[in-house]
Amino acid sequence: MSLEPPTFAPEADRSTGAPRVDARRLLDRLERLRRIGAGHGISRIGFSAEEQEGRALIADFMAEAGLRPEVDPAGNLIGLPPALRSGTPVLMLGSHIDTVPEGGAYDGALGVLGAIEVVQTLSELGLRTHRPLAAVCFANEEGGNGTPGMWGSHAVAGSLTREHITAVDVLGNPMERLVGGAGGDLGRIGEAAWPPGSIDAFLELHIEQGPVLEERGIDIGVVTAITGRVTADVEITGRTNHAGTTPMEMRRDALAAAARLVLAVRGLAAEDRIVRVATVGRCDVEPGAWNVVPGRVRLRADMRDVDPEALDRGVAALEARAVAVAAETGTGVAVEVADRVEPAPCAPRLRRRVRAAAEELGLSTIEMPSGAGHDAQIIAEAAPVGMIFVPSAGGVSHAPDEHSSDADVVNGADVLLRTVLGLGRAGAEPRRRAH
Ligand code: GLV
Ligand code: MN
Ligand code: MN
Repeated sequence: MSLEPPTFAPEADRSTGAPRVDARRLLDRLERLRRIGAGHGISRIGFSAEEQEGRALIADFMAEAGLRPEVDPAGNLIGLPPALRSGTPVLMLGSHIDTVPEGGAYDGALGVLGAIEVVQTLSELGLRTHRPLAAVCFANEEGGNGTPGMWGSHAVAGSLTREHITAVDVLGNPMERLVGGAGGDLGRIGEAAWPPGSIDAFLELHIEQGPVLEERGIDIGVVTAITGRVTADVEITGRTNHAGTTPMEMRRDALAAAARLVLAVRGLAAEDRIVRVATVGRCDVEPGAWNVVPGRVRLRADMRDVDPEALDRGVAALEARAVAVAAETGTGVAVEVADRVEPAPCAPRLRRRVRAAAEELGLSTIEMPSGAGHDAQIIAEAAPVGMIFVPSAGGVSHAPDEHSSDADVVNGADVLLRTVLGLGRAGAEPRRRAH
């Protein structure tokens, strides 16, 4: 990847002195972060050693931006202005740097690095904002270790549930150990919640993770609302037996039953149109031997919709299908909701500011909902939120070939910068960078 500053920046804009982020620094930091957890794609699973290594780098970047990096009791890494007086509301910017297994380099990372870049640019230009700025790197947004995701943002919003606190990861580690390893303290988790009014607003810059912006040739997506999602764990119990000797009519094959359920989950969206999208992305088979009729299968269904009632209907339909498949296959099927995240609207005032910021930079915009989940939808429980999307090449995300062009990355950060300034500019005129 080239670290040359992109050449897309309109010179006219530079000549008027309109503030722009330091493109080279932002792209260089993205590249440095990309190397952590790199293999086939990027695996920086929440609470893993790789995520911790990434967070150490982010803490350095926060310090370079003049912020004081702190880890809260939930394990969130938060960069605060050094002289912040307690009780002063902040404008919070950020996202996450954990990834799904074998994910991409931009999902979350762009929002964290963009936030830090905006803070540093403003400080170097001597521009003050109407609110102090905080840059946040939320812990475990993805839930890539099998725990419910959005852990860190739930802690900040004060909406962690017993299911979050008592979750264990795929290796059996309890949250206490995971959070402690990230520098947090589950015993003080309540202190991670920000008091009402202390977050004036939250802005998250993110890649679109879908094809719409690229297909339509649009620079910036102004997010209207963020999709809701429900995940349900399905356990199918059959009988383990010999693959060569067990007659077909005597089998209670848990995987054959699971196959029907996988297609049923898909059908909830594809044919039945009960929910917008529905996926089974994980399926564990026991004992998992080629010459054994599988005795137990666990799978997780993910259903998403902007309408919370559609999510209710999706769960009910899955439960009904599970009863039918159990009867048809002589297995036992149990369905349990694992996690639910409500849809969230973005604040109209912030949407207007994002759109105006993009237009002032000569960038094209459309309004669009987010089909992916984001920390912003959790923070929406505590403060108005806004989201800025940039195009994803080929609409690919949660995959190794996730990519956004340098120009789009920098455009997004410039829009974030201008949105922040547009929310209330006070203080000095731009002056030249110190370096
Ligand atoms: C979060 O990245 C999601 O699954 O949408
Ligand atoms: Mn993601
Ligand atoms: Mn993300």
